[in-house]
Order: sequence, then C-alpha cells, then structure tokens
Amino acid sequence: MNDKIWLEQISEKIKKKMLPVTERTKGKVPYTTKDGVFDDRYAIDDCWWTNGFWGGIMWQMFHATGKEVYRETAQWLEEKMDVNLMSSKGMDHDSGFKWLPTAVVNYRLHGNTESKNRAMLAADNLAGRFNPVGKFIRAWNDDGDASKAGWAIIDCMMNLPLLYWAYEETKDPRYMHIATMHADTVMEHFVRADGSVKHICEFNPLTGEYIKSQGGQGYAHGSSWTRGQGWALYGFTISYMHTKDKKYLNCAKRVANYFIANIPEDGLIPVDFRQPEEPRRLDTTAAALAACGLIELANHLVETDKKIYLNAAMKILRALDEHCCNWFLDTDNILEKGCAAYHFKVQEQAIIYGDYYFIEAIWKLTNQELFIW
Ligand code: GLY
Repeated sequence: MNDKIWLEQISEKIKKKMLPVTERTKGKVPYTTKDGVFDDRYAIDDCWWTNGFWGGIMWQMFHATGKEVYRETAQWLEEKMDVNLMSSKGMDHDSGFKWLPTAVVNYRLHGNTESKNRAMLAADNLAGRFNPVGKFIRAWNDDGDASKAGWAIIDCMMNLPLLYWAYEETKDPRYMHIATMHADTVMEHFVRADGSVKHICEFNPLTGEYIKSQGGQGYAHGSSWTRGQGWALYGFTISYMHTKDKKYLNCAKRVANYFIANIPEDGLIPVDFRQPEEPRRLDTTAAALAACGLIELANHLVETDKKIYLNAAMKILRALDEHCCNWFLDTDNILEKGCAAYHFKVQEQAIIYGDYYFIEAIWKLTNQELFIW
C-alpha cells in the first residue's frame, strides 16, 4: 500500500477509535491501561508529569474533527490541573508537558484569559527553576535537602516551548534568555560528538561546574536512551523554530542522523540504542516521539534533505502500525509496548504520550495537526 493511502486509513482508524474511547474515559486522566482499560492517573497523582497529554489528544482530535466532546474534555482536564498549579512540590521542569497541550492551546484557540493565566503561572515557575551560574533549568524536586539542585535532564528540551510562548506573549526577553541558555548548556554537555545524548547531567549548583552524567531511564551510564534522543531531536528542532538560530537546527540534524543510523531493519525502536541484544526491549513512545521530531525537522530543511528524515519517520510509523498498534474499538490505547524506563519491572505497556505523539505524527503527515509546541 502506498504511503498516502496508508496515512488516510490510519487517520480514519484513529478517528473511529478515539470517539468511543473518549466517551468511556470521561472523568479519568489516563496514563496507562489495565486489561485494555485506561486507568485514572490523576486519582493517584494529581501532579503527574503526563497529565496534560490526554488534553493534547483531545485538542488534536477536536482540531481534526470539530467534535465538541473533545473540547469539553480538554477544558475539564485543564481546570482539574489547577490543583497542580497550587502545589509547589508538584511544579517542576515538566510544566511544558502539562500546560502547553492544555492551557496554551485553549488560549491560542479561544483567547481564554483563565487559560492564559494558568500558562503564565506555569511559565514563571519554570523560569524560576533556572540556575544562572550553571545556565540550566533544574530538573525534579527533592526532599528539601538540595540533593538534586544541580540536576538537569534532556527531557526539559521539550518544556522550553512554554518559555518561548511566554516570550512571544509578553515580549519579555527573560523567557527567551532562559530557554536559549538552557538549550546551549544542553548542546554543550548532553549531546555527544556522535549525536547521541545523555539523559541526566549533574552540575555543581553553586559554581555551575559540570560534574558527571547518569544513565537515567536508559540502559546504563554512557548509553543512549531512545526517548531521550527523541526529546533532543524534537526539542532542538522546536528551539530552532522559535529562535531561527541555525545552531539548533544543526544540532537537531546531528541527533537525527545518529537516530536514523541506529534504526533496526524492521523499524522497531528499542528502549536504548546501546542495550544488550537480548532481551529485545522496545519503546513505542520513543518511536512515535522521534517520528514527530523527524517530520518537523524535515519541514525546515531543503528539498533534497527532507526525504531522508521523512522516509525514516514513515519507516518507524509503519512498523508501529504493523507490530504495535491495537485498533480494537474495545481497547482504550492505540500503541502497545511502551516503556517508561529500561530497568523498570513493567515493560511493554501502553503509555499515554505514545498515543499522543502517534496521533500528532499522523496528523502532521495528513495536514490535520494543531501545532502546540
Ligand atoms: N519525561 C520523562 C520521560 O520521558 O519518561
């Protein structure tokens, strides 16, 4: 089947599936499934970092179909997340993942001033995590013992768009300075010469001096966690989009070239490109995220280069459909075989951001995307 027909079919399958799934998920904020049924992660953790992705799915579906149920659900979720905005302990580097796909979208689409207020509070909190000596945005919180005061993580590249949005909205250059200084630090310390990236870097929070890296959610120190590669690939592309600074585009290309060189023959993405051959652990969330990054990157390259990145994205997406998509209407998730971390006991689970990025990638390729980053 040619790519165009395949994309049209997948787009229809998503629309057919998401309507009943949304109806029966009312009142829940899903993270994963149990026996094919979405859980309610909010009931366990009202500040969980993925809580905004269900809102992102809702807005993408609303944009593509105009169906009111999606808008209503997104609005409901955004209001529910105010509990998080009022919890200083629950506010961390992941504010972009939470309020870009919810409040910022709502504000952009409808000019909702309450949404703008939420997004500005989140952006200010994110900016407040900046360490001006080390020039990085601090990851995670600790127990008040400052043990993590010097930690930064690659994932944060995807939270920077909240600061770019705040800059575009207020014209206050502080947001832009913080976002670009963090991106520059990541380029210097996280991205290796071969284009692979580290997950966690530790700095001395008093002097800013680089101390060491950690394997984090990947296989080990020195390895290459695929979702982290995805956060970097898409994150640097987005930093280029907001700044037009070519160094970010070139960095995204370098990470993308490394990623493409490591895609296995069958297109299925492992949890870590440097994990042992057996057991063959997969992460479909990394696959869908990387596909989004590759497609977006292609949009900013000259015609002759575009194909390399688009072909890689298509290979990944078609492999997901062939081996890891669940199109049964009575199962809530689309993607199977996501992985939160290489060493976690639970492997091969549905994870909400896998479905989010899968839908975003298909929407990008069928001109139905609402760009939220
Ligand atoms: N941002 C956390 C993760 O990718 O698992």
